[in-house]
Amino acid sequence: MKSVINIRDLSLEEIDELIQTALDIIDDPAAYARSCLGRILATLFFEPSTRTRLSFESAMYGLGGNVISVAGADSSSAAKGESIADTAKTVSCYADIMAMRHPKEGAALVAANNASIPVINAGDGGHYHPTQTLTDLLTIWREKGRFTGLTVGLCGDLKFGRTVHSLITALSCYSGIRFYLISPEELKLPSYVKKDVLHSGGIPYVQTTSMEIALPELDILYMTRVQRERFFNEEDYLRLKDSYILTPERLKKAKPDMSIMHPLPRVNEISVAVDADPRACYFKQVLNGKYIRMALILKLLQEAGTL
Ligand code: CP
Repeated sequence: MKSVINIRDLSLEEIDELIQTALDIIDDPAAYARSCLGRILATLFFEPSTRTRLSFESAMYGLGGNVISVAGADSSSAAKGESIADTAKTVSCYADIMAMRHPKEGAALVAANNASIPVINAGDGGHYHPTQTLTDLLTIWREKGRFTGLTVGLCGDLKFGRTVHSLITALSCYSGIRFYLISPEELKLPSYVKKDVLHSGGIPYVQTTSMEIALPELDILYMTRVQRERFFNEEDYLRLKDSYILTPERLKKAKPDMSIMHPLPRVNEISVAVDADPRACYFKQVLNGKYIRMALILKLLQEAGTL
């Protein structure tokens, strides 16, 4: 039973295939509107979400399927102490596929090891968020028309930012990729990502605290939020939260065709005035998230023999 816990669970060929399916859906959504008739997606979100949960649900409705949902840690028997393993076995009795977000790293893998239906990791703590990466890849494809030869700046919380870890992992598979890792000292990319992905793949990168140094070089700037929920200490969060704020003034240093991405939600790190800049892609990313999740649900249900 194929589940998607880490972006590495998908080969480059499978990612290409998913992007192609998403592009087909964008061209002709009516052709897919009954593809999952009678099938059920369970969304289990033990941590807050707007985009990921609603895009999964919207994706399943767009395919003609149905959705059952646990929204919030307090609204299921997890609040009574039920294990993730038992929850996964239970949900497998009611649904054909499940998407799970959980604050603990590894939770989705435990669910996949115990479920009899495909499990999609919708974010596990500071670990991975593979469907955000698929969303980001579809956005890059639609904006740039290629994955090769790109200089990508990742800015903000690179330590706890699971979207960043997954995106670096995925983009490192393509040739000619260079990264600028822009963060405060305390929020640098974890050494395991550097070792397992960048060093082992011989991927060039510059680590800096300065957005100004990086900006003129970038084809893509991927901003991230400093995540209050990952800090043990409120004082540290308050000190670091406004480390980088992208403004129209700062953008004068960037290339005229640089794409500005952000997985959202944003707090202060991109000024609202930037939204009107034609380089801003973050709300396009939101919409792309629905199409790529439609493609993924279809693929996993087909492979499970459910369609
Ligand atoms: N990008 C993202 O994961 O957003 P949500 O937390 O709103 O799902």
